[in-house]
Amino acid sequence: MNAKVKRFVLEPGRREMMLAGAAGLVLAAVGAMPRVSFAQTAGGPVSLAPLPYAPEALEPHIDAQTMSLHHDKHHQAYVTNLNKALSEHSQLATLTLPELLRRLPEVPEGVRNTIRNNGGGHANHAMFWSIMGPNAGGTPTGAVAEAITRDLGGFEDFKKTFNAAGTKQFGSGWVFVTADKAGKLEIVARPNQDTPLMEGKAVLMGNDVWEHAYYLKYQNRRADYLAAWWNVVNWKAVNDRYAAIRRGELI
Ligand SMILES: [Fe+2]
Repeated sequence: MNAKVKRFVLEPGRREMMLAGAAGLVLAAVGAMPRVSFAQTAGGPVSLAPLPYAPEALEPHIDAQTMSLHHDKHHQAYVTNLNKALSEHSQLATLTLPELLRRLPEVPEGVRNTIRNNGGGHANHAMFWSIMGPNAGGTPTGAVAEAITRDLGGFEDFKKTFNAAGTKQFGSGWVFVTADKAGKLEIVARPNQDTPLMEGKAVLMGNDVWEHAYYLKYQNRRADYLAAWWNVVNWKAVNDRYAAIRRGELI
């Protein structure tokens, strides 16, 4: 074992944190949030929780077939591949998912890209399912609404900038809103399954602009998908994440 790998051996006091990932910590923090787990299971250190609502629940904005394929096939593949990589490098499975992603440069080179793509994929999708829901949309509420007005120029400007970032993201990727511990918001786009967690930044919310997220219904019309997506954003869930970030529980 080289010196870098040894650094993954954490203090016993951190053990209670190890089996909870980004979404798992939300669970601990807010209870009623949709269940997405990073808990230890017999199949590997990472598990894929069921969608927290029916696949058709986001119709007509996101169709049921897209939701089923997206969750059951795409997200499942990230989980399966991440478990395989972690099973071959058990010292990595002792880290929380945000910690694993933040410490990618220390991950053995042979498995670094696999962890980057599949660990990022798991974190991004777990966040994604949790901030959408049926009978959602409308204007932001609570502390998130205030932060959007303060940091992003209000809801209309925020949507415009966010949608433009998602439209301009070349190829596959994501557009996110990050929040620091003081609550300041920022819009960032990242390619592939990269996540601001890799830079130590907490993710408040984000939209998936991979074609697998929208192609069956919207074909090449990514801008239409981005515009429709706001109808399924669950602002209560976003506010719960915001509170968890401000408590330091999502990073
Ligand atoms: Fe996706």
